[in-house]
Amino acid sequence: MARYEIMGGARLEGSVTISGAKNAAVAILPAALLVNGVCRIENVPDISDVRILLSILEGLGANVQKPEENVVVIDATAIHSTVPEAALVKKMRASYYLMGSLLGRFGHCHVALPGGCNFATRPIDQHIKGFKALGANVEETEEYVALQPGEEGLQGNRVCLDMASVGATANIMMAGVLLEGQTIIENAAKEPHIVDLANFLNTMGAQVSGAGTDTVKIRGVQQLQGGTYTIIPDQIEAGTYMAAAAVTGGNVLVKNVIPKHMDCITSKLEEMGAEVIIYDDAIRIKGNGRLQAATVKTRPYPGFPTDMQAQICVCMTLAEGVSRLTESVYETRFFGYCTELESMGAKIEISGKTAEVTGREKLKGTTVVARDLRAGAALVMAGLCAEGTTRVENIHFIERGYENLIEKFTALGATIRRIDD
Ligand code: UD1
Repeated sequence: MARYEIMGGARLEGSVTISGAKNAAVAILPAALLVNGVCRIENVPDISDVRILLSILEGLGANVQKPEENVVVIDATAIHSTVPEAALVKKMRASYYLMGSLLGRFGHCHVALPGGCNFATRPIDQHIKGFKALGANVEETEEYVALQPGEEGLQGNRVCLDMASVGATANIMMAGVLLEGQTIIENAAKEPHIVDLANFLNTMGAQVSGAGTDTVKIRGVQQLQGGTYTIIPDQIEAGTYMAAAAVTGGNVLVKNVIPKHMDCITSKLEEMGAEVIIYDDAIRIKGNGRLQAATVKTRPYPGFPTDMQAQICVCMTLAEGVSRLTESVYETRFFGYCTELESMGAKIEISGKTAEVTGREKLKGTTVVARDLRAGAALVMAGLCAEGTTRVENIHFIERGYENLIEKFTALGATIRRIDD
């Protein structure tokens, strides 16, 4: 099993260019199945989740080409199957998007239940509720979901989500774009990748409006045609490098970002004492001595993202004072990494949804295990700050979502290498 070995102590300096957004890519690539033509998708991150998805699409009969780095060309005209390969589907969480896209294009599908990061129970009842509202018959077992048109066929409808689920919003959007009538999603998620998916679909000829607000409206069209689309930069990858710069007392220009998407993270790091300079498509972060304790509560966008919980926790473990970190999206998320940070000397007390983090002067290197993607990135950050050597195991989680992590951190002056046993 491969692992990362990190020699702590470097202040990160220089610049890093942020890749395309993982969570947008894993929605947009399946959405290409809705298109009767050739989609050229640019700024696609080269991460394992994307590679798995592309294999799934090829298995369904899509023609997938990679003419240049970070560009994928997909022609889904000749799809011959609506049953994605279960073994691949189980390797990642976002494979649930195959349900919405295959239902939308073909009216039926048989998709294994997804795997991926299991830092919490992650039900898909809201996705199912949406498919049913659009007229689908749903057969759900412990292994798969099979969707068929119900007696009255599939058609647009109004769906009010119980919670603003990112996955359900995107899935219902995909299922609705080719249906007769209008689909309205109330209490929709507003994350940047929801807007990016809507922009992709509209570029291909869909009529989606309201993405980024509570109400998304999808007026069905007969067909989507091909086109070219560029994926937005990754908010969480950017946030990870920003937090790493701040906690190492570094000075890093984080390039290729949409500063608006970063507002909540930027202002929290500023509040903790980092200096932040915002440009049109870049953010400079300077660590100004030791960070100060803070109070953070994760929330759906535009709030502080749950996917930055672990990284901000690392900042708190070294900040002066006692911080409070409250998780309001996935309650059990702390368990993926807090004990690992404690083994490095962090002081964290978890009580229900809140972790109280008492800042320490230093962390010490040891062997830690990544249990999910963002927890893994946080352990890398902790290793960068720790005294001595940190070994991070289970790095396949990290490689699901961070493109060229070793190269990017090395270019910033970190000593980090990947070791294959
Ligand atoms: C997406 C992101 C993930 C991020 C999360 C929250 C992708 C591929 N993944 O995950 O990185 O951590 O948003 O920002 O974009 N819920 C239900 N029933 C459902 C759906 C969700 O109860 O049918 C609950 C979840 O358990 C969770 C909350 O709703 O408590 C939000 O989940 P959701 O927004 O759906 O997250 P994901 O789409 O799985």
